[in-house]
Amino acid sequence: MHAGWYEADIERVIATEEQIRQQTAKLAARVAADYKDVDRLLLICVLKGAIMFAADFTRELGRLGVPVELEFMAASSYGQGTSSSGVVRVLKDIDREVVGRHVLVLEDIVDTGLTLSWLVKYLTSQGAASVEVVTMFRKPAAVRSAPPLKYVGFDIPSEFVVGYGLDYAERYREIPFVGVLKPEIYSRPAT
Ligand code: IMP
Repeated sequence: MHAGWYEADIERVIATEEQIRQQTAKLAARVAADYKDVDRLLLICVLKGAIMFAADFTRELGRLGVPVELEFMAASSYGQGTSSSGVVRVLKDIDREVVGRHVLVLEDIVDTGLTLSWLVKYLTSQGAASVEVVTMFRKPAAVRSAPPLKYVGFDIPSEFVVGYGLDYAERYREIPFVGVLKPEIYSRPAT
């Protein structure tokens, strides 16, 4: 195998595995305290980018004894590029009613917040008792325009990052940490 094959494509590390683990534990502890009176919290993992975070965060809640259900949704606003198109496409809806449920959306990264604003409105309109968001990463644009985010792992610069579930054209999701992709990689014509 080629350990660290991706190092040549990564400009610098934004969050190490250990930092991600620590932030996940902190976020889970806050959520556990805030939802201690809720029967079964409904977690909605936004595919595909949030899968690593959802897996780690859900297990962390389990360790803290928080009962949850886990659902998946896929909505996309990015296609193959690195800037938001503003168009949200629902690729997969949840399989469960959200009426009366306390919902926590698990996001990988919030940039413009377009995807998320749409999702929060959608879940609220479906009759959820409450809808909050936990995101591992937040870019500066989100501080200005996204719906208020209660739980944020890391505030990061406005650069394109990959790893820990985050991709560029479906690549790099398997990298265990998060790093800035070298700009020459995404300015190349797609192959
Ligand atoms: P937004 O609608 O602009 O907030 O974009 C949200 C989605 O775009 C995220 O859920 C990611 O899938 C993707 N995205 C935004 N920034 C990045 C990045 O730096 N790397 C990889 N994907 C990103």
